[in-house]
Amino acid sequence: MSSGFSEADISRARRETPGCEEVLHFNNAGASLMPEPVVDATVSHLRLEARIGGYEAAKRSREAIERVYGATAALIGCDRDEIAVVENATRAWDMAFYSIPLGPGDRILTAIAEYASNYIAFLQVARKTGAKVEPVPNDEHGQISVEALRNMMDERVKLIAITHVPTNGGLVNPAAEVGKVAREAGVLYLLDACQSIGQVPIDVRTIGCDMLSATSRKYLRGPRGTGFLYVRRAVLEDLEPPFLDLHAAEWTGKESFEIRSDARRFENWETNFAGKVGLGVAVDYALGWGLDAIWERVRTLAEDLRSRLNDLPGVAVRDLGAEKCGIVTFTVKGHAAEEVSRRLSAEGINTSVAPPSSTLLDTEERNLGPLVRASVHYYNTAEEVSRFCEALERSL
Ligand SMILES: Cc1ncc(COP(=O)(O)O)c(C=O)c1O
Repeated sequence: MSSGFSEADISRARRETPGCEEVLHFNNAGASLMPEPVVDATVSHLRLEARIGGYEAAKRSREAIERVYGATAALIGCDRDEIAVVENATRAWDMAFYSIPLGPGDRILTAIAEYASNYIAFLQVARKTGAKVEPVPNDEHGQISVEALRNMMDERVKLIAITHVPTNGGLVNPAAEVGKVAREAGVLYLLDACQSIGQVPIDVRTIGCDMLSATSRKYLRGPRGTGFLYVRRAVLEDLEPPFLDLHAAEWTGKESFEIRSDARRFENWETNFAGKVGLGVAVDYALGWGLDAIWERVRTLAEDLRSRLNDLPGVAVRDLGAEKCGIVTFTVKGHAAEEVSRRLSAEGINTSVAPPSSTLLDTEERNLGPLVRASVHYYNTAEEVSRFCEALERSL
């Protein structure tokens, strides 16, 4: 279904999302409301574990557990053996990043909107190895300048690592244009797709990334505590995971071990099986609606919200980028972001606050304090956008 959402589709999406009855949920970039099929599948597996035993349940549900690999591969256009399912996007990203051999003078190029956890890891590795981390300046739209990136490339650049959609706004970095530069130079490219997966159509072959990290609970609407990592087959063998266990490698002799050849070398043995089942169902559910349709609807609702917010006195929308996604950030003159979010919450409206420290380079460059973050999904409605703006106006 890629021809857009009809009224009947929205009704079904909301019917299948029990949380819509409870809250006006504009915190989809925090964690979306799970649809019923995801909840049912996850809880059913937990119940099976309780009834027959965890190991036995894993055996019996093997197909449903394995489905997560095929589903995520279909979602991003890769093969199932290029997928590792892990605890969250941070662990996925870390497993990829800490596998990359870096030495003194090696350069890591990143973007201004980079996420705090990633940047902390850059700094740690730079401190340990003598590698350098260098942010690429933004262009006139506030997204990574592909021209500046091209000009910064030389033989010391060993990694380009950027965030697709940052934690603090609607910006969508031009991932495929960045990929073109990486491919031309033959440099590893790691894309943090934590905030874009499930709202933006993603094809790793088109983007040209070698590694991509993602989480389950945000726009994919899966259960918390799961995420996944894509690693391109051609680079898998060169990336030795920072941790290995008996799932990621085989103990072959007193002095030897062999790392497995597929992306599951980045996993570990014990895992959240119910979460894996739920994530597989969540991805299939998203594919059922179609990512093109989801993307179109999310952008339409977010644009509607931005234009309504722009009309409110004292409200300033803070989103950057030539193309914007479902995340809308704003400030309200004379009111702290935490206070605004708290007042909305008192009316049953969920938002979150993006603290400056989560994207320090960006917030320092723009001299921003905390932002209110309202993030919409396809199951939200224009009526909810109106109710949100009315509640905001009332609370000021
Ligand atoms: C851009 C970005 N990357 C990574 C993460 C971390 O994701 P997770 O909490 O699943 O580890 C977040 C979380 O908000 C994020 O916004």
